[in-house]
Amino acid sequence: MHERGIFFKTPRKWEKIGNVVILPPFGADEFLLPIIGEVYARVLGAKAVAIYEGISGEYRENSVITIWGKDTETVHVENGIKYTIDVSKLMFSSGNVDERIRISKLNMSDETVMDMFSGIGYFTLPAAKAGAKKIYACEKNPVAFYYLLKNRELNNMSNIAPLFGDNRIVCPLGVADRILMGYFDTFDFFYYALQYLNNEGGIIHYHDLVRGKDESELVRKLRAEADNSGFKIASYKKRVVKSYAPHVWHVVLDLVIEKK
Ligand SMILES: C[S@@+](CC[C@H](N)C(=O)[O-])C[C@H]1O[C@@H](n2cnc3c(N)ncnc32)[C@H](O)[C@@H]1O
Repeated sequence: MHERGIFFKTPRKWEKIGNVVILPPFGADEFLLPIIGEVYARVLGAKAVAIYEGISGEYRENSVITIWGKDTETVHVENGIKYTIDVSKLMFSSGNVDERIRISKLNMSDETVMDMFSGIGYFTLPAAKAGAKKIYACEKNPVAFYYLLKNRELNNMSNIAPLFGDNRIVCPLGVADRILMGYFDTFDFFYYALQYLNNEGGIIHYHDLVRGKDESELVRKLRAEADNSGFKIASYKKRVVKSYAPHVWHVVLDLVIEKK
């Protein structure tokens, strides 16, 4: 107990994913946590409440402390798409909502799409909604892959072809009209993405973090890599997805790639 009495500093921003509430880290005496959790659960109509501690590793696994309730598996409905996820194990980025919606509204009819970092289907499901003919959805984390399969069934999206394993190994060559690279720091994977495009080229949605919204250095590197593989970036458009950290922005580049 603190000398000044009970200690509780209110969380700055909560979010509700399905019917689980996630709170950012905040200060409170430990014995208060279940009480705070119950208040959030009752007010927001949630079945569980957890405090977010961070994301780690290449599987992007969530670390949370559940302070109320037990069952953290939930179905989050967004833009008419159902995402089943266990938020105690995997991330769900609310800040990417506009990008998920944008992908779902592109015209992908007759396209073969590849999502190299599918996760539970964050962009795969919107691409399926956009009417793609076939979507290869690659994921190497068995937990995320399990939810990808579940979400494919739940949304009745038989145009999704799930591929389990490392995308540098399991993805088919020369098939894609469009590729989703919805993960950061994946410059080394761009070479592989180019091999997965069809003979004429296509579109790659390349996500990354840049300082000061300036993508010029990243584009220079991507152009050089495309050039080495017999392709060129004919044009591109940048979209700022969200602020990630002070002066650091999550951007997506829609790269139009052509065979040289
Ligand atoms: C969490 S998602 C990225 C965020 C997501 N696009 C969103 O909108 O929130 C990245 C996924 O890529 C997977 N991954 C990382 N490296 C991979 C690889 N080489 N092959 C296949 N999947 C990979 C991770 O396991 C993870 O599930």
